[in-house]
Amino acid sequence: MAIEKNLIDELVRCVGRSHVLQNEQVAARAKHFWNAEPRQAAAIVRPATTNEVSEVLALCNAARQTVVTHGGLTGLVDGDHTTEDDVVLSLERMRAIESIDPIGKTMTVQAGCVLETVQNQSAEHGLSFGLDLGARGSCTIGGNISTNAGGLSVLRYGMTREQVLGLEVVLMDGTVLSSMNTLLKNNAGHDLKHLFIGTEGTLGVITRAVLRLRTATTTSNTAFLACPTFNDVTETLRHLDHQLNGQLNAFEVLWKPVVKLNTNPELPGTVAAPIALDENYYVIAEAKGSNASMDATTFETAMQRCFESGWASDGVIAQSTQEQKALWAIRENIELMLAFDPHYVFDISLPINAMDDYVQQLDTQLQRAWPNTQLFSYGHVADGNLHLIIAPPNALSEKRDSQHEQVSRMVYEPLSQIGGSISAEHGIGLTKKPWLSFSRSESEIKVMQSLKQTFDKHHLLNSGRIVDPC
Ligand code: LAC
Ligand code: ZN
Repeated sequence: MAIEKNLIDELVRCVGRSHVLQNEQVAARAKHFWNAEPRQAAAIVRPATTNEVSEVLALCNAARQTVVTHGGLTGLVDGDHTTEDDVVLSLERMRAIESIDPIGKTMTVQAGCVLETVQNQSAEHGLSFGLDLGARGSCTIGGNISTNAGGLSVLRYGMTREQVLGLEVVLMDGTVLSSMNTLLKNNAGHDLKHLFIGTEGTLGVITRAVLRLRTATTTSNTAFLACPTFNDVTETLRHLDHQLNGQLNAFEVLWKPVVKLNTNPELPGTVAAPIALDENYYVIAEAKGSNASMDATTFETAMQRCFESGWASDGVIAQSTQEQKALWAIRENIELMLAFDPHYVFDISLPINAMDDYVQQLDTQLQRAWPNTQLFSYGHVADGNLHLIIAPPNALSEKRDSQHEQVSRMVYEPLSQIGGSISAEHGIGLTKKPWLSFSRSESEIKVMQSLKQTFDKHHLLNSGRIVDPC
């Protein structure tokens, strides 16, 4: 179904000719941050203000035109997928930081602002933002909020939801819902912003936000440890959590295959292994504080105890920012894993003490089905979040869909019994929709469907994500 010419004319009138992209201008855009294939869409519309967003949505609603919102295109569940029939609403022109209140510790931003810009501007004021993730240089705050992004410091600051005080949202019929609250405490009835945090743009388009900032830390200490058993990993976590006085900022665990790949000298873009790779589990622990004279010593003492207790058999503490970056590169470089063809990416939550058995049992199942499958297991273990990248050795392209389904079943099926979730931080999008019932009950899904019906009765906005109409 081609887009109506009238609608294009109206959109042009609203945002200007140069901000309604069509045809080759659409094709010139990549499909995804990691996929350079050309984008397909009837048009890409780039409003500059909330009022323009409102007008664009109202026009599309009246014309029964489907709309998909785009931020930094770094999502991992196909939330940004479009066909030639969809209009893309890109927030790329709404990237301003409008104000910062250093006393109330808030920042007011437009949704297209890149996460790293928020982080850098906070630092200019002696403040910091409690969200950090590998895609920081590309992902946008609107995308972070709509997916309730998690990332590296959830153990300290919580998910994105905890960093949002106020939101401005436009509903599909054009209604502007402005709840730009700046208060930490505000129990005046329903806190409507939570309807739009983590609902992946299905209920409205986030246009502006009031973010909660924290006092900036000034010291940073990072260690890379090798742990003989998973029990040693959890003992290390318990100990650091206790000894570092609330300064533990990240605790990432990498199973050996990830470290081997990202330190393989024969592959491009890798870094040197900082220690011998004799164990199965590797930890990157990071503490951030504000006492330059004491923090390094406290950190070293805490690490010493890990060695003395045998929880860590080897390890290094970074001695410079450069060394810190090199340690983090072992964790943040996920591109080599994504280069396997085929590969399937998973993001799951489960109780920490169930992780080791879970990964071992999954590996056994994978090897039985496809011998020599690569299982890359890593994640934000302190908050119960594992990422799995699974690369079976061969699959004819026509068999990939059924292989993906089989692998997904192996990953998701055991989770409900151990109290896990099929999505820790990446959301549901299109990719995980068939599996939602593994983590949510029938009545929960019914309420999600009825919220969708209330906010977007023609199912036009990011439609098909999370749930289908009932
Ligand atoms: C990460 C992304 C994939 O943590 O969530 O690397
Ligand atoms: Zn992650």
